[in-house]
Amino acid sequence: MVNEDYFYLDHAATTPLREAAFEAFKYAEIEAFANSSGGHTLSRKAKNLLEESREIIANYFGAAPSEVTFTSGGTEADNWIIKSSFHSKLSDKSELITTKIEHEAVLSSAEWVHENGNIVHFVSSDSNGVVNTHELLSKVNDNTKLVSVMFANNETGVVQPIKNIIEEVKKINENILFHSDVVQAVATEKIDFHKYGIDSAAISGHKIGAPKGIGVMFLSSKFKLPSYFHGGKQELERRAGTVNVSGVAALAAAILELEKNITQEKMKIDFERNIFEEKLNSEIDIEIIGKNATRLSHISNIQFKDINSETLMIALDLKGLGVSRGSACASGAQKPSHVLKAMNISKDVINNHLRFSFGWTTKDGDGLRAANIVLSSLRELS
Ligand SMILES: Cc1ncc(COP(=O)(O)O)c(C=O)c1O
Repeated sequence: MVNEDYFYLDHAATTPLREAAFEAFKYAEIEAFANSSGGHTLSRKAKNLLEESREIIANYFGAAPSEVTFTSGGTEADNWIIKSSFHSKLSDKSELITTKIEHEAVLSSAEWVHENGNIVHFVSSDSNGVVNTHELLSKVNDNTKLVSVMFANNETGVVQPIKNIIEEVKKINENILFHSDVVQAVATEKIDFHKYGIDSAAISGHKIGAPKGIGVMFLSSKFKLPSYFHGGKQELERRAGTVNVSGVAALAAAILELEKNITQEKMKIDFERNIFEEKLNSEIDIEIIGKNATRLSHISNIQFKDINSETLMIALDLKGLGVSRGSACASGAQKPSHVLKAMNISKDVINNHLRFSFGWTTKDGDGLRAANIVLSSLRELS
């Protein structure tokens, strides 16, 4: 499943497929390919596989199977929760609170809510990339319908104080739906939604070794939201469209692998990421973004001096090392990152950042190997 010739350090953008996920996908496509909504034997086989997989996935997140709806990925789940929460409440007094450091899937959905006449608050972060809890709580009132704060940021890896924020928000208004985009965190953090008090969440399969095009919208049974897609009555009438059973089966297989290996994977990733940062730090002048905050193990966002990230990224690619400038979307557009802007990173260096992200395929020695490639590229470019 892994191309050994290329040194891939862009797991935050997407991960290689896990062998078990590939096998589960293949099995489903061959043995359980029928439409899971049909009435014959093969359809029942697909339906059984779908429901067994749903149970595995729900269990992993401490959720009930009925709280799990399958989507095409994280973007759809974020859009669904945010837009559907306001659909019948457009232009009334309902308010949304989110943060300036969210993924575009949340930010753009929040902008849609704003364009349709509702009040939306975008809360700032501090210079470590941690959301300003005090500012967020000052915006909560009786009209607040939804608060959306990501579990951890996809560009910096900085983990947000979700548990504390949820507790404080609910003290002010217990009816608020608290949404969290956990897409980036699942690779290295085991999250129990109910223990955290998370009411809804977006999960993406391709960030944890499952295929692209499958995700989960978790919604606590305490809440109900209108359907986002209209059509057939699939997924308990919550999401119309023939269910991607093979993707779901592959996601369940990836989750089982993750469950078995998360402790060792996280330890290795953490170790290699730290070696990588220590080596660079000892040889050149760098800034490790979010170094004073709690970070996910797999993400290292480095600010280099006097070198444009695009130039360095191309040089690394020529040496067979794949990294990115930040989120995949921001990277394609080549605009300064909105996350770094929200952290008040100076304009002079905002385009000097690269994101190195480790993952389940990370091997012993990868940290040092990556640092040495970066150092040799920088020497050649200077
Ligand atoms: C934090 C976060 N949210 C949402 C998404 C979108 O997920 P998907 O690619 O499954 O639509 C991403 C993907 O980069 C992400 O990192």
